Amino acid sequence: MIDKSFHIITFGCQMNVNDSRWLELSLAERGFVKADTADAQVVVVNTCSVREKPERKVAAALADVRRVTRADPKVLVAVAGCVAQRLGEKLFSPEGQVRLLIGSDGLIRAPEAIEHLLAEPDLRLSLLDFTDRYEERGRMRGASGPVAQVNIMQGCDNFCAYCIVPFTRGRQKSRAAASVLEECRARLNEGAREICLLGQNVNAYGQDKRGDGVTFSGLLACVAALPGLARLRYVTPHPKDMGPEDVSAFGDLAPLCPRLHLPLQSGSDAVLKNMGRKYDGRDFLNLVERLRKVRPDMALGTDIIVGFPGESEKDFEDTLNMMEACEFVSSFSFCYSDRPGTRAALFPDKVDPAVSRERLARLQTLQETQTRRLFAKRVGQKTEILIEGRSRRQEAGKTSWQGRDPYGVLVHLALSGNTDYTGKMVPVIITQCKKHTLMAQQAGGLW
Ligand code: SAH
Ligand code: SF4
Ligand code: F3S
Repeated sequence: MIDKSFHIITFGCQMNVNDSRWLELSLAERGFVKADTADAQVVVVNTCSVREKPERKVAAALADVRRVTRADPKVLVAVAGCVAQRLGEKLFSPEGQVRLLIGSDGLIRAPEAIEHLLAEPDLRLSLLDFTDRYEERGRMRGASGPVAQVNIMQGCDNFCAYCIVPFTRGRQKSRAAASVLEECRARLNEGAREICLLGQNVNAYGQDKRGDGVTFSGLLACVAALPGLARLRYVTPHPKDMGPEDVSAFGDLAPLCPRLHLPLQSGSDAVLKNMGRKYDGRDFLNLVERLRKVRPDMALGTDIIVGFPGESEKDFEDTLNMMEACEFVSSFSFCYSDRPGTRAALFPDKVDPAVSRERLARLQTLQETQTRRLFAKRVGQKTEILIEGRSRRQEAGKTSWQGRDPYGVLVHLALSGNTDYTGKMVPVIITQCKKHTLMAQQAGGLW
């Protein structure tokens, strides 16, 4: 075991990834070094509770940590994130390795708690209280890289019938606009060229009592105007909160990329109503149409739940039809999973898991066909790639690099020389499409 060393294992969404990154940098500032699980004095498992399966992975990960560290009681294991928030002190293991629980709002106090627990081997701590305001965590110093993820809020007030997030992340709390802008500026000064604003319901930013009067579209315009910014994205908006200003922003703000992840969840009006999504199929289609009017090349991604309680074959076909009508370029789709404490967990008419799995397979086949068709149209097109790092692909005499185009698609390309191209913008021509990625060739000077 190395003194003052840590290892973080991360499951879940981009907010979790960003939380882990913050913890990593904060521990590094306190003199901790990264290590493999087997050598680490502190192991943090940052968890996701959105469906049963990711939650089951946590038990497996904790068992793994126990095995790899040979159950050494001197190793401090912390469980962070949504499972820690949901299960609380049940996670304290009788054998003593898990001694710290870090809830959503507790993260800010985690570095100090870790130091405290290392000095006090018989102590356990749980940081599970929710705060009523967005607490500033302190800057992510040294989080360089071409893409900066910046939190603008915490929690969600929507309580969609199936969703655990409002219980694990708490009520919606908007971060002060001045702090968001300060972080964005600092990240751009450190070399970031793209900013992605993060939250569970970003376009409801400012519409909670902790907001400071700045709306989402107002914030977006301020970020878009920051010097040095080449690209701007955000995730995740709620279709019901996409106001006219959020739509027109795609025409008005030059750095705002023509790619939007817009969770549909279902194409059936009856299912959407039972989910409590507060829009129907027509509203969604109308929104898609307005977005494409402003940006005809708009690429849309989505989330779909299949087999929601009461979903009939006809409801499911409505979803397939909507997938085609909206021409999503990608989608995350999952079988509905009961989450304890949510409304849907108590709904009757649960769909037979075998039926759900069969529907999911059909939906994913349709998505693959659609992606292939949309990708094929891209071959021969000119675009620009922001290089994020080396790619594992090999090409004789050249190094392979990867990055994203403005539509959020991962693109591989070979560049000559030994220079580090990370953070460079490369004009390219798309030469080939694969299942999930595109291949390209340089077609102009880097900038
Ligand atoms: N705030 C975002 C995402 C929340 S969770 C939104 O409103 O869309 C990410 C995705 O997980 C959801 O979009 C949904 O498709 C899926 N999901 C959430 N709860 C689920 C459940 N109980 N069963 C299956 N999928 C679920
Ligand atoms: Fe969950 Fe709905 Fe909130 Fe998204 S908007 S986090 S699906 S409750
Ligand atoms: Fe999972 Fe929590 Fe994110 S449940 S999806 S880690 S907000």
